[in-house]
Amino acid sequence: MQAATALPAPPRWPLLGHLPTLPARRLAQHFTALAPRFPEGIFEIDFAGYRMPFITTAALAAEVLDERRFRKTIGAPLASLRPLAGDGLFTAEGDEPNWELAHRILVPAFGQRARRQYLAPMLEAAGELLAHWRAHAGEWLDVSDQMTRLTLDTIALAGFDYRFDSFGRSTPHPFVAAMVRVLDEAMRRASQPRIARYWRFAARRRFQRDIAFLHGIVDEVIRSRRQTPSAARDLLALMLEGQDPKTGARLSDENIRYQVITFLIAGHETTSGLLSFALYFLTREPAVLARARAEALAVLAGRSAPEYEDLDRLVYVEQVLEETLRLWPTAPAFHVAPYRDEVIGGRWPIPANQRVTVLLPALHRDPAVWAEPERFDPERFAPARRAAIPRHAYRPFGNGSRACIGQQFAMMEAKLALALLLANFELEAEPGYRLRVAETLTLKPEGFRLRAWPRR
Ligand code: HEM
Repeated sequence: MQAATALPAPPRWPLLGHLPTLPARRLAQHFTALAPRFPEGIFEIDFAGYRMPFITTAALAAEVLDERRFRKTIGAPLASLRPLAGDGLFTAEGDEPNWELAHRILVPAFGQRARRQYLAPMLEAAGELLAHWRAHAGEWLDVSDQMTRLTLDTIALAGFDYRFDSFGRSTPHPFVAAMVRVLDEAMRRASQPRIARYWRFAARRRFQRDIAFLHGIVDEVIRSRRQTPSAARDLLALMLEGQDPKTGARLSDENIRYQVITFLIAGHETTSGLLSFALYFLTREPAVLARARAEALAVLAGRSAPEYEDLDRLVYVEQVLEETLRLWPTAPAFHVAPYRDEVIGGRWPIPANQRVTVLLPALHRDPAVWAEPERFDPERFAPARRAAIPRHAYRPFGNGSRACIGQQFAMMEAKLALALLLANFELEAEPGYRLRVAETLTLKPEGFRLRAWPRR
């Protein structure tokens, strides 16, 4: 078939393209709302001359997620994190030597054997959340804030044997405050033309100061672990001692710093959003909540905490999490580019190295795959139905060799936390709350509060 010359696109302005129509801090939601207008599964957005195709259907995703034709590439949000996270796993291009090296060294940290060791630190962090909710029984709690404290404490403890003690503080740890500021500024940079940042002197200086502060703390953690080796067999131990099984090479201290920062960020934001959205859906769907709670209680069988083996029996809780990630994939997009000129869908030309966005909230609502796409229905992921979901229709953890290394860690942590919360508390969402989704690097429900009362 003949390749078309132009991709479908909304009406655009001369020179500025679609820039004047793009809402700040709501971009993923704006693009997702556009998708039904382009049933072809592709549309183009023109950022004042820089054109970006968006992929929104499983049929086209199957083509751009073919790693023989397309590779991951670093889009604007990740590029703006490079001063902080350097060539850490998330922000490295696949052909940078440190990506492959770190990937081979760190994959074992997320295998079955390693995950078993994460149970104790995960339970410790969840225990602090439960204690905090008991102490604040009947008070309104900001859900995203609570889940962020939990997930940050979990990755810091499980990965680096470091305690932020988020539930023992009224204001965030200085490391966390600096990290939040840097992420905010990085996101702002990602959505602005480069020229705009030059006259924001104060913001630029603060960004650099915060990054230097964060690097300083991480470098200190690395130095002190080198001086006084710990018994912990955690992620940091593997970063410091691990050798590439292929070449025998080790990670440099500079790269370890970038990996620690990467894991602290990638390891908490997304899981926090997942848990927050899951609690939002559960409190709106009493039947789903009742079934998930019944399963949690049956698995716990009167004990205060599950064993590692029990996690596989939280089947319905896992379905709830999977359906939550379908509707609100908390890392809402990633980018790929073809090695050479490509034509997808038999007619849409994608020139070599052209960055393409895979827009997950739209892909996960593709009407050709999902009946009543807007309906929250964990039954879609029931074991008997799961195999029928086309592979490329559901990609909340990314794709292929660049898929999320922490997927199993995240699901284990989220299942555990959700099961413990359901088993221990009655939950009441704020009446009349209408979902607003906040966009930073990731998605989260904004202003969603609930009250919790101990069940026993
Ligand atoms: C619900 C939770 C999570 C979601 C939805 C999620 C999603 C994703 C996605 C979509 C990617 C691919 C990004 C791209 O292609 O640009 C990714 C990569 C990554 N994630 Fe996650 N993630 C989650 C939790 C975690 C956790 C808990 C960790 C660490 C413990 C983690 C560490 C990473 C790292 C290091 C990468 C880069 C992998 C590479 O390219 O080698 N993530 N994640």
